[in-house]
Amino acid sequence: MDNTMTLFPSLLLVAALSHPPPPPPPHGHPPETPPAAGEPRPALPRRDPPPHLGLQDRKPGALHRRKGRQNEGRLFESSYPGSICNLLGKHSLLLMRGSLHKRMHSLTMSFANSSIIKDHLLVHIDRLVRVNLESWTGRVLLMEEAKKITFELTVKQLMSFDPCEWTENLMKEYMLVIDGFFAIPLPLFSSTYRRAIQARGKVAEALDLVVKERRKSEGAERKNDMLAALLEGDGGGGGFSDEEIVDFLVALLVAGYETTSTIMTLAVKFLTETPLALAQLKEEHDEIRARKGDSEALEWDDYKSMPFTQCVVNETLRVANIISGIFRRTMTDVNIKGYTIPKGWKVFASFRAVHLDQEHFKDARSFNPWRWQDSSATANSTSVFAPFGGGPRRCPGSELARVELSVFLHHLVTRFSWIPAEEDKLVFFPTTRTQKRFPIIVQPRVQAM
Ligand code: HEM
Repeated sequence: MDNTMTLFPSLLLVAALSHPPPPPPPHGHPPETPPAAGEPRPALPRRDPPPHLGLQDRKPGALHRRKGRQNEGRLFESSYPGSICNLLGKHSLLLMRGSLHKRMHSLTMSFANSSIIKDHLLVHIDRLVRVNLESWTGRVLLMEEAKKITFELTVKQLMSFDPCEWTENLMKEYMLVIDGFFAIPLPLFSSTYRRAIQARGKVAEALDLVVKERRKSEGAERKNDMLAALLEGDGGGGGFSDEEIVDFLVALLVAGYETTSTIMTLAVKFLTETPLALAQLKEEHDEIRARKGDSEALEWDDYKSMPFTQCVVNETLRVANIISGIFRRTMTDVNIKGYTIPKGWKVFASFRAVHLDQEHFKDARSFNPWRWQDSSATANSTSVFAPFGGGPRRCPGSELARVELSVFLHHLVTRFSWIPAEEDKLVFFPTTRTQKRFPIIVQPRVQAM
């Protein structure tokens, strides 16, 4: 089991520059794993822990909920290394604080909440997933395909572009930026990081042109996308600058891309290894498809009638922990159960420690989607289940990610049967993923294997 909280003072962090910490995942979220090899070890708290205080007693979930989420901006603040700011841009939501953060968080929510998904985004999600799946034959690298789908969906949501040569080129540059999140953040020593910074510049240039074009076309029909909302936003007086908008878009593109595509891939991997769950999922989706024509798009009511799918989504998020925890810095001395975390220290609140804790989830390391059907058993555990974080920084894309995954699973299981093309292993460092991008061999279901 991971340590509940990994604490290490800023001083050590500075000293660690020659051993940089593992980068955060390429989505503007915190890193997948707590500090590991080559990083400063957790420092001792100022006061020795009471002898009776074992790991179990520390209740990481409770600690995170009470102290981390509710006290955001008061006791703790979000804190990320400079190397990340260089890739995300200083105006990314994850790096904002105070009232600007509050306003921008709710602006983001207004483009990813249930009603906008229902009325506007769902139809595009359904169409883009379907079009992508139509080209699948034989061997498919699932992780690559999932990334393509989530990238196209995010570009549509942000700027209303459908897939074209421009989006393909943007994605190529984007993948270089993403590589930079996993490289040593020193341009002099790492060509990957250097390339990532250059690619970030090209992505920003391309988006800057889009922003300028859109400003010029003011008066034309208003697009229903995030860019339109940003152009109309007040930015605390006088509107947002182009640079602010571009940074914001870059960070959102990162956010919507890697986590959702990983969760898509891992859900399919877990289902492949759990045939009973796959059979039940197919049944749920076959029933929905039977009510509709072959090519009819999914509607909100269909999404709402996928209870077992939501169990699969929850269980995948719990076992795989795409975001294994969040990083904060203490703004003042913080007392927790007899420990003092001094002002200025970095804090890592581990979701994985909670999600894989036997005390909260029976047989915690097994993929068991049925556990989410038993409301009495999960009544307690839902309060410690936080794959999307909590409080003012709770992920504004949580519902969107769920819908994207549900629609993807629907079209996958109603169209295809598949088998793994080769053995692949789940790894958690530097990010949660499978080693070989989960290659599968697909076959249309009419000629099911
Ligand atoms: C399975 C998919 C996803 C997971 C597991 C996930 C998880 C998280 C978590 C744990 C945080 C909190 C970070 C913190 O407290 O420091 C977060 C923040 C964020 N997420 Fe996601 N996310 C997912 C998908 C998305 C999508 C699709 C979007 C696109 C809209 C998105 C946009 C963001 C943004 C902009 C933030 C920063 C929020 C802030 O700092 O106020 N995420 N996400």
